[in-house]
Amino acid sequence: MKSVLDLKKLKDNKSKIKMVTCYDHWTAKILGQTEVDCLLVGDSLSMVVHGFDSTVHATLEMMTLHTAAVARAKTEKLIVSDLPFLAHRKGKKYLMDAADALMKAGAQALKIETQPGQEKWVRYLVDSGVPVVGHVGLTPQYVNQLGGYKVQGKKAEDYQKILKHSLDLEKAGASALVLECVPSPLATEITHDLSIPTIGIGAGQDVDGQVLVLQDLLGMDTQFKPRFVRQFAQGEKWLKDSIGGYTEAVEKGSFPSREESFQ
Ligand code: KIV
Repeated sequence: MKSVLDLKKLKDNKSKIKMVTCYDHWTAKILGQTEVDCLLVGDSLSMVVHGFDSTVHATLEMMTLHTAAVARAKTEKLIVSDLPFLAHRKGKKYLMDAADALMKAGAQALKIETQPGQEKWVRYLVDSGVPVVGHVGLTPQYVNQLGGYKVQGKKAEDYQKILKHSLDLEKAGASALVLECVPSPLATEITHDLSIPTIGIGAGQDVDGQVLVLQDLLGMDTQFKPRFVRQFAQGEKWLKDSIGGYTEAVEKGSFPSREESFQ
């Protein structure tokens, strides 16, 4: 899959969209051999890979570097990259330079976190030839205003705001929407009202697809288990056990063996 049009086809065919985050080359090569449809080079890489406490720290340089590493795996998966914090607030030239850098690095669409009233930036990108994925509900780049990573749209007024913003993003030309941490009835209503696909994370079942941070679904951090994450593997244990096997073999002198050495 190489274009956002394929996401729409999946919605129309009632097939679920499967998206995961991917930040590096070797993981992209493996994911290229799976059934996922779409690799998200998410700005969550600032937390997962670089150890920052929020996505506010993801820079354009980081996003470009990781996008290029993923793209060099040359998979058939659609690559969506995040526009970093404030990209659409630094003026048109900065937004265009950022979009240019990410698309040239290998992204096929860009994801942008917006608030109501900022849809014109989506229209501007789309009119410039950049396919856009919107992101509503819990928008982590706004964490300092939201006062934490909390479910959004619980109050009637916020519910209506998110619903209207979603409709406005579709009108502005967005090709798909990520719905993060919103009540399931809101996600259902948005999915029903929009003709573009919705991809949920903490948004329940009635959406057109799901996205998870890869390290969360692999169970790489047993300390981090929010309600919406299912750990499909015990990655942390697998990594520790593998390294345990290696260190023990080195300590005992059983690695390398004669066959693993040059005679
Ligand atoms: O950056 C990211 O990983 C994301 C997903 C959580 C949707 O935006």
